[in-house]
Amino acid sequence: MDLLHLTEEINRLKAERKAVILAHNYQRDEVQEIADHTGDSFALSKLAASTEAEVIVFCGVHFMAESACILSPEKIILLPDLDAGCPLADSITAETLNRKKEEYPNAAVVSYVNSSAEVKALSDICCTSSNAVQTVNSLEEDEVIFVPDRNLAAFVSRNTDKVIIPWDGCCVTHYHMTREDIFRQRELHPNAPISVHPECRPEVVALADHVGSTSAIIDYAASVPEDKIIIGTEAGTLYRLKKANPGKEFILLSPDLVCPNMKLVTLESIKAALETLEPQVTVPDEVREKAYRALDRMLTVKQGP
Ligand code: 13P
Repeated sequence: MDLLHLTEEINRLKAERKAVILAHNYQRDEVQEIADHTGDSFALSKLAASTEAEVIVFCGVHFMAESACILSPEKIILLPDLDAGCPLADSITAETLNRKKEEYPNAAVVSYVNSSAEVKALSDICCTSSNAVQTVNSLEEDEVIFVPDRNLAAFVSRNTDKVIIPWDGCCVTHYHMTREDIFRQRELHPNAPISVHPECRPEVVALADHVGSTSAIIDYAASVPEDKIIIGTEAGTLYRLKKANPGKEFILLSPDLVCPNMKLVTLESIKAALETLEPQVTVPDEVREKAYRALDRMLTVKQGP
């Protein structure tokens, strides 16, 4: 089926199913193009919690669809490709988190949304890359177990007075970026500001001009006067950047910034998901109710610096 017919068919099925298509900023260009909303993890969580659609087609990875299910249990949540996982989220389990909690009985647990529903269920509150510092600072406890991303934990640690106990996970895509990439790009493009995601290594974050979630990177790039900006996050982010800023040039900090899991969702799999209402992502009630408390608490934390 050609692109035009595929798009028409998806739009027809979407209306029939009373569905909304949410796509993360890392999705393929054509998936972002067809989506009703694109955004970072935080924006998509808020949309999942508030949409009136009966079906959510979540174009992202498994933990994102699970979060949508936790926040909107009465809806059908479709993840067009169930193999779209997240090795960072898989780096911690309920069992290993419980062991950490036993080691630090007085610490609060903050889980980055890149975690399973079971891990969220054992957490006091969730956070995303756009609100991690505010979330940690909103807690009464002085000690915080922060899971599973050690780089985001390091970023939080530099921006809070609380003691952060990190988990040793990281995102393999962001791990690719090194100090040498920053030095090389600064030499090649001396006037271009560098904006990176907080999942980057601490030494990369320290050398960048700006750090933020994918949506914060997009806002930053639009706000600076320079017409060339270096981007330190997954390549899919370039789609919205180019669309919103046709006069600007965006250069990836390093050449290997593709998350293979994020690219598994295709227009064909979206169409098939809308046709069959499969594959659905569900979370057992006893896990969901506890995970809901942590996610919903995150949504109530005041955003902003
Ligand atoms: P944000 O959506 O918060 O920018 O982070 C996305 C992510 O999962 C990075 O791997």
